[in-house]
Amino acid sequence: MAGRIPAGVGPQHPQVVVLVGATGDLARRKLLPGLFHLSSSGFIPGCRIIGVSLDDIDADGFRNIARAAVAEFSARKVADADWAAFAGCLQYTSLSAGPEVLKAAVLEAERAFNGESMRLHYLSVPPNAALAAVHLLGEAGLVERSRIIMEKPFGTDLPSAVALNARLHEVFDEDRIFRIDHFLGKEAAQNILAFRFANGLFEPIWNRNFIDHVQIDVPEKLALGKRSGFYEQTGAYRDMVVTHLFQILGFMAMEAPTSLEPKPISEEKNKVFRSMLPIRPSDVVRGQYTGYRSEEGVYSDSDTETFIALKCFIDNWRWAGVPFYLRTGKRMAEGQRIISIAFREPPKSMFPAGSGVSAQGPDHLTFDLADAAKMSLSFYGKRPGPGMRLDKVSMQFAMHDTSHIGDVLEAYERLILDAMRGDHTLFTTAEGIERLWEVSTPLLEGPPAVRFYDPGSWGPNAIHQLVAPHAWRLPFERGWRDPNPVGS
Ligand code: BG6
Repeated sequence: MAGRIPAGVGPQHPQVVVLVGATGDLARRKLLPGLFHLSSSGFIPGCRIIGVSLDDIDADGFRNIARAAVAEFSARKVADADWAAFAGCLQYTSLSAGPEVLKAAVLEAERAFNGESMRLHYLSVPPNAALAAVHLLGEAGLVERSRIIMEKPFGTDLPSAVALNARLHEVFDEDRIFRIDHFLGKEAAQNILAFRFANGLFEPIWNRNFIDHVQIDVPEKLALGKRSGFYEQTGAYRDMVVTHLFQILGFMAMEAPTSLEPKPISEEKNKVFRSMLPIRPSDVVRGQYTGYRSEEGVYSDSDTETFIALKCFIDNWRWAGVPFYLRTGKRMAEGQRIISIAFREPPKSMFPAGSGVSAQGPDHLTFDLADAAKMSLSFYGKRPGPGMRLDKVSMQFAMHDTSHIGDVLEAYERLILDAMRGDHTLFTTAEGIERLWEVSTPLLEGPPAVRFYDPGSWGPNAIHQLVAPHAWRLPFERGWRDPNPVGS
């Protein structure tokens, strides 16, 4: 891709990245392969990366870890020359070496740039370690010319989120803080904005007069594995809903921003969050897969939910009375990430009984947020032949249909690049996060008991009562059309 990077996509200044948690799981799976791709594709020429972690290793040890991570997790082929160039940009200092050593490493990396470079601190560490790292950066005098990317969780409830933000602001101003939510970096999530606001066709019906209900459904097949210990303290609501699902809800439900700039977009998203009604525990189903309690790091009487389904409302002019159903969980039947919008049915049907009208649910607009993103609009059409029989048919678009599919950036790559450019559009604000914890308070204070579900299922039975008289869209009655059928 080098050589055809459009102007304005890369950062204006060379970057020195301080990657705290450099040998951790996220760094190995996403951040190091992502930085390697951005670097070798020419997005961030000359970028220097200083790995920081508790591990007592040297720069070569870090390069070996990074090489293995790129080999295992990069989706693209790694050319030896690209790797050699990238390896030359990696340095390492251990956390225990202290602020002076870290500062010296950053200054050394910056020497080549004549004071023209910017610093990007990426904190890929748990919350308690994150504050310590923030103070380390402060003590090392590395706040100037810097931006900082923070990983979730941004608190665990309203008081802890307010306290965390206050302590962060002691060192970094809000406009330097980039709270990452990788769902918003997914190409398909951004396409929601394009779909809604670049077309005149859909926005007029994007409201309570035409939309009956919305589902945001993110079942996952994967088990917790080594993450059980972390997850036991977190649960599905804090891990997925208050972060990813609500952020997607924000894009789906917001008013048109005055421009496609970070501030207007944040304002509109935050207005959605402000209009949300507090989550009622009676509108929530918490589940736990059988067998979870025997996993390592999990209490034998654990009350942590590995599954959650809930109904919430946005009490504004556009959405009053429209239920939004959210669901996510581990060890479920399928891995999917969909937004499904169900339209109101016609007021009266003149089709004969048994014709099939409304037998397969309402018309739907569906966004598949998978890496191979798709969209579909389904509606009733006449079955060919005599008489009047109706079938559900659909129009589908797959991102793979475009000729630009090779240009897709992985979510973390996109977001790192945006943070390097100082672009907050796809990041969350302190105000938004605090409001989401505020609406969560009734649920956090009075969670309904967890119900068990079988691994490989769609969750506890109570999920059906939650959506009645509607039905969950997943599992799909009809699969997606194959965008590239064999022989086409
Ligand atoms: C992470 C959660 O933020 O998102 C995980 O902590 C979850 O529990 C993951 O599995 C899902 O992300 P993706 O991009 O793999 O769908």
